[in-house]
Amino acid sequence: MRLSWSAACAGLIMAVLAPQVCADEIDRRVDALMHRMTLAEKLGQISLSSIAKDYDYGPLERGTVGNVMNFGTPEKFQVVLDHWRKSRLRIPLLHGIDIIYGFRTLFAVPIAQAATFDLGLNAAVAEMAGRESSSAGSNWTFAPMVDLSRDSRWGRVVEGAGEDVHLAACLAGARVRGFRKGGLVVAPKHFVAYGFGQGGRDYDAVEMGEPFLRDHVLPPFRAAIAAGAETVMSAFNAFNGVPATANPHLLKKILRHDMHFEGVVVSDWGAIDQLRNHGLSADPLALTVRSFGAGVDMEMASTFFATNLPTALARGLIDMKAVDVAVRRVLRLKFAAKLETRMVADQALSDATLARLAPSARALAVEVGRRSMVLLENRNDRLPLAGVGRIALVGGLADSPRDHMGPHPALSRIDDIVTLRKAITERAATEGVAVDWFAACGACRGAVDPQDPAFQAAVRGAEAADVVVAVVGESHEESGEGASRSDLALSPGQTALVHALAKTGKPVVLLVTGGRPVLLEAVMGEFDAALMVWFPGTYGAIAAADILFGDAAPSARLPMTWPRSTGQLPMSYDRLPTGRPASVDDKWTNKYIDVDPSPRYPFGYGLSTSRTLFSGPRLDRSRARADQTVTVTVHVANAGSRAVRETVQVYVHQMVASRSRPVRQLKGFASVDLAPGEARDVAVPIRVLDLGFHDDDGNYVVEPGIFRVFAGRDSDAADFTDLAVTTAARLPPWQAPIPCLDTPARAARR
Ligand code: BGC
Repeated sequence: MRLSWSAACAGLIMAVLAPQVCADEIDRRVDALMHRMTLAEKLGQISLSSIAKDYDYGPLERGTVGNVMNFGTPEKFQVVLDHWRKSRLRIPLLHGIDIIYGFRTLFAVPIAQAATFDLGLNAAVAEMAGRESSSAGSNWTFAPMVDLSRDSRWGRVVEGAGEDVHLAACLAGARVRGFRKGGLVVAPKHFVAYGFGQGGRDYDAVEMGEPFLRDHVLPPFRAAIAAGAETVMSAFNAFNGVPATANPHLLKKILRHDMHFEGVVVSDWGAIDQLRNHGLSADPLALTVRSFGAGVDMEMASTFFATNLPTALARGLIDMKAVDVAVRRVLRLKFAAKLETRMVADQALSDATLARLAPSARALAVEVGRRSMVLLENRNDRLPLAGVGRIALVGGLADSPRDHMGPHPALSRIDDIVTLRKAITERAATEGVAVDWFAACGACRGAVDPQDPAFQAAVRGAEAADVVVAVVGESHEESGEGASRSDLALSPGQTALVHALAKTGKPVVLLVTGGRPVLLEAVMGEFDAALMVWFPGTYGAIAAADILFGDAAPSARLPMTWPRSTGQLPMSYDRLPTGRPASVDDKWTNKYIDVDPSPRYPFGYGLSTSRTLFSGPRLDRSRARADQTVTVTVHVANAGSRAVRETVQVYVHQMVASRSRPVRQLKGFASVDLAPGEARDVAVPIRVLDLGFHDDDGNYVVEPGIFRVFAGRDSDAADFTDLAVTTAARLPPWQAPIPCLDTPARAARR
């Protein structure tokens, strides 16, 4: 049999071919195709058009739109394909959609998944979401969101991995690997620093020094790219005065040159048009030239490129070579991802695939639920529930499927949602425990009338019960894009409800929903236990019931600092030291006069229902060179009576350096399962090369000196030992190590 190169590269003898051979073959195919393309067809490849009412399929037929988004069902995509088949060259389409935490099955939201501190689990979720979504014809997700944020006023923290660069970079790599394995091209977003908008407001300007950008904000993108991300989405925000969508310093110098990104930069939704509002120009031609010239390859949801690039080329404002480079990037991606084999839409096949995946998707969703819910308080060992005959389940959020879905429901179905009410009632019934549900004041967002009959009924129900389980927190519209908040406190209505329930004298357990910290200060003394259940998705409520009844031990850890007051934001555990550290006895120190400067719950915090003892850390060497790895060992013992999963977290602080160094930074973590009475040594390897930082020129340096190594159960861990680093390292930006990546230096990538 004679095998063509294209068949070989399509996978038949992939195993024996060097990737370079396939890359060359792809280039040959791209070259051949480019020769046949008109300018309009080329511009089609760098246009991305979204479903709309009265959508005009003409451009698809003419090949002047080469990519689509949001045609999420096979039925809708079939219509696209019918028109696309009429196109002259039938170049495969990228078909994008926001698959953020699920397609048909919704998993716990990304911030919740981050709380598992489990890369494998995060990858598995992304893979499942990818498999479900690609069964319906999509081949591209606008995810993962890898924006770091220290400001939970920003509604989009729900989509990310929290505040810490190490965890976020490790998760970015895991999520990218998962989505790709599930059959999707990925678009880590939003490049760059979108999470640092002033005042926590969505779309707001960002002012940021470059060492900080490189130390904290870029590594998750670098991890995503190293894991194979084919596209990157540029951000809406201005960065140091220049909108990211028209910022050559970000897109060309940093992303292309320093980070070696070879894929496609796609704009965010309508972002080129919005450059007018940024004040760059009122002229569409000028905006096109600014954004394309800055390094945006593909335009989402508007038609500036297709409309204006011909004039820009004719006037010599843009070089045809630059257009060809962008088109080539898109075509290479399409051939490398073998999209030509995926231009199919089949509702029956998709339904069958979804049905086949359903049991494992459900099991995974429950597992992620169990592992992502953070036990914030457990006074009097209230959880798991014991000796309870009647539960008063209070709050409209317990019975609101839409609020379980969170801000990005994708193609999930409301009828599939297992609510907290259903899950808790069913689980309780297996033990003969009765559950009475009371809506009280619904989501209780505004002020409530305590005399209202529904409110009164809830209070009477609490009086008649052995324990009250109250569901409070955010509803789905209170989190996500366009849902920044200036006050994260529990709403007045929910506060009044908890006060009234506590007054009954019955123990109160709070289940807190939402996509960010919900400040419980106003009711702090009025509940026994609080479990952060986030937006639990399709089946996560089952996990909450499991935790309530002790079928699962809570083990999640906060990926974001939980403040006491919204006024403390932005806030993160890895802050820089100050010349006047906070002291209660000294007014002239770094604090507020009206709130304790410490967080309510620190980064990495989460209780278990057992009692564990940590001892250590010990190092396998007390001195190390910059190219060595040090193993940090912590002894963890389960001294309680229930099984536990603990996450050992290792933080490092460089005592003296040429720049002020964060008071501590997470550099490694490892989880361990311990039966009652069991004890184990947990080893966490730390690469010394990971302990450096960027200088003003963008280079990465490790400076020798003493590094204090803290280890324990959260970012307040007090136990430490010192490591002496004996040699220095200095690397250009593209060689800076990427957390969780085996090979520290990526110099050999190209
Ligand atoms: C968001 C992106 C999203 C896009 C498409 C924008 O408003 O910022 O994250 O991928 O819409 O839905």
